[in-house]
Amino acid sequence: MFQVQLASRLNGVSESATLKLNAAVQAMKAQGIDVANLTAGEPDFNVPDAAKEAVVESLKLNRSRYTPVPGVIELRNQIVEKTNSQQPELPARWKATNVIVTNGGKQALYNTFMALLNPGDEVLIPAPYWLSYPEMVKLAGGTPRFIESKFENDYKITPDQLRSAITPKTKLIVFNSPSNPTGAMYSKAEYQALGKVLLEDANAKNVMVISDEIYDRITFDPEPFCSFLGACPALQERTITVNGMSKSAAMTGWRIGWSVASEAISQALNTLQGQSTSGINALAQWASIASLKLPESTFASQVQSFRERRDLTLEILKKAGKIDIVKPAGAFYLFLGVGSYLRSGEDSFAFAEELLEKAQVAVVPGTPFGAPQSVRISYATDQATLIKGCEKIVEFVKQRA
Ligand SMILES: Cc1ncc(COP(=O)(O)O)c(C=O)c1O
Repeated sequence: MFQVQLASRLNGVSESATLKLNAAVQAMKAQGIDVANLTAGEPDFNVPDAAKEAVVESLKLNRSRYTPVPGVIELRNQIVEKTNSQQPELPARWKATNVIVTNGGKQALYNTFMALLNPGDEVLIPAPYWLSYPEMVKLAGGTPRFIESKFENDYKITPDQLRSAITPKTKLIVFNSPSNPTGAMYSKAEYQALGKVLLEDANAKNVMVISDEIYDRITFDPEPFCSFLGACPALQERTITVNGMSKSAAMTGWRIGWSVASEAISQALNTLQGQSTSGINALAQWASIASLKLPESTFASQVQSFRERRDLTLEILKKAGKIDIVKPAGAFYLFLGVGSYLRSGEDSFAFAEELLEKAQVAVVPGTPFGAPQSVRISYATDQATLIKGCEKIVEFVKQRA
């Protein structure tokens, strides 16, 4: 039999654990098993009508040709407006030439790592982290290095931790606020303190920042969302802001994301994209333009619904007694510290597998998020599923205690 020789760049790179788990759940459902699926990484709301109408209109206008590699100008202008309003004190206002529209936020992140990393370059990733960051860094030839955030510090890293993690090889740090998987969100003051290290520490002069702000709209705290450059405008030249339509406009399947960065970086990203995927799907770009033009109030009921589901889920899970949970300030996940319920030698994979098998509740193990004693649940699902799933988790852990 023919033995394919795969490229060595794939050595040590893992398959996405969330996508794999979702496939297992779908297979169980196909067999008629009633699974409470708490793994969803996407909102369960519909796309605004204005976005749907924009697609129909675009079809009628025959917008079926290649789009410009960095995105249609109308979309880039909308993105400029949004980003400038979230980053009001920048030394220089962003322009369309600073924006590259990509296939989801994922491609913006991947292309950024590809454009910036050389072998030996290290990327600091606060843990727990979104599981694709380290894999993307490895694919791009870099080395991921983790900074362990503490449960006691609401899963946020401190300036001292950042300072001591930086080495001469550090090229980048990735911030993700609000966070997948913990829902943690940095306040303006917290970001300013971290930015101060990057601005003032002798070791940090060349360190750049990727700020993944894909959950910006889904926040619940009295403290508002703060973009990294909203807090640290002096780091404009050193920061790449990533965002997109997936989470904040319930448009995961439309695959629209973007990066906003200096022209030097954006030109490199443009070259990379021009030789790989070219410009993004035309219809999805026009849908995004329509959605970005909608007032913030259009999405208020979605955010309110996430808040209610968060509170409901917390209320039920409290009954377990020994699950460690930081009340999330944003996104739509709860990160459950289940260390008290793990048997010796077990990690979250074994816990999640047994939970699925015995209680028919699907959660994502924390191990690929850099937290082997935790599991992630998503509350982006209907209340009935949430209540059933969380009550079963409580019963399940009580039996393990
Ligand atoms: C933190 C984070 N960043 C980026 C993405 C990528 O989103 P998309 O490619 O759908 O825009 C996700 C999706 O799960 C995410 O959770």
